[in-house]
Amino acid sequence: MSVRRPRRLRKNEVIRSLVRETSLNVNDFVYPIFITHGENLKEPIQSMPGVYRFSKDKALDEIKECIDLNIKSFILFGIPEHKDEEGSDTWCDSGIIQSSLDIIKNKFPEAYIITDVCFCEYTSHGHCGVIKDGDVDNDITLENLKKQVISHAKHGADMVAPSGMMDNMIKAIREALDEHGFHNIPIMSYSAKYASKFYGPFRDAADSTPSFGDRRTYQMDPANKKEALIEMDIDFEQGADILMVKPALSYLDIIHMAKERYNMPIAAYNVSGEYSMVKAANRLGFISGIDVMNEMLLSIKRAGADIIITYFAKEWVIQKFIDI
Ligand code: PBG
Repeated sequence: MSVRRPRRLRKNEVIRSLVRETSLNVNDFVYPIFITHGENLKEPIQSMPGVYRFSKDKALDEIKECIDLNIKSFILFGIPEHKDEEGSDTWCDSGIIQSSLDIIKNKFPEAYIITDVCFCEYTSHGHCGVIKDGDVDNDITLENLKKQVISHAKHGADMVAPSGMMDNMIKAIREALDEHGFHNIPIMSYSAKYASKFYGPFRDAADSTPSFGDRRTYQMDPANKKEALIEMDIDFEQGADILMVKPALSYLDIIHMAKERYNMPIAAYNVSGEYSMVKAANRLGFISGIDVMNEMLLSIKRAGADIIITYFAKEWVIQKFIDI
């Protein structure tokens, strides 16, 4: 009987690359962009080296830079000038996302623009919907979500991505879009979104920390896996086109399970805390940041993600960190 020697296929880079099972491609990535009011602004985000808050005019430069690197898909997050109890900027024609869509789509019609659909950056209390009796009221929030998606679609969004973890948000959004003739706008649902401390740096970036309590009455308990199936089944049945798992790295088992179960694209959000940890450790000289980045992104793909939303997209393409 011959002896098994797996090392034969690791002899040199040529044979290793021939047998490689997973590889990343620039088409896998969606790049998040934070847009703020004002002009001529490119504000560094302290806890996310290499990531900025852009005014609309500067966001155009950023998008141009990405397109030149072959990054064509973006997810927009807005920081409005005025916040209120309901987050009404989200459905206003002059809202931060609406006005950004107008100018981006006008200048770069080829850019694929996904809008994050939520309220936390827009409400005075920082929660993802309308507050009633000290908690987010699910069904009142659904009505506002409908207004928000219709408005995004009217201003040219290519895809909407609801991230608020409201029950039955996909049904409400699909119906609203269809009623207004937007049958062709897909929905990427943040289906299994966990109440995670890995969102810390994002909340600095987007100014969306809740002013009281936390998000555990709507985002999932990190301990739960079967519950992710309930969430994803509901979104699948209600017509989501893409299911997302978020965060990515501590939830690779959930990504894997989603990929096995559904014959549809699975997205994973490589969130702010995952990004910032690599940047911090790299600055301290504790790890080689670029190599760790490559390994992390690869692991997300290997687990089953077809789409990876990541702040690393540009740096993956140029294989260099831009913050130093
Ligand atoms: C909600 C939203 C959040 C993120 C994306 N969409 C924050 C939250 O739920 O508190 C986090 C993304 C990240 O950490 O990179 N609009």
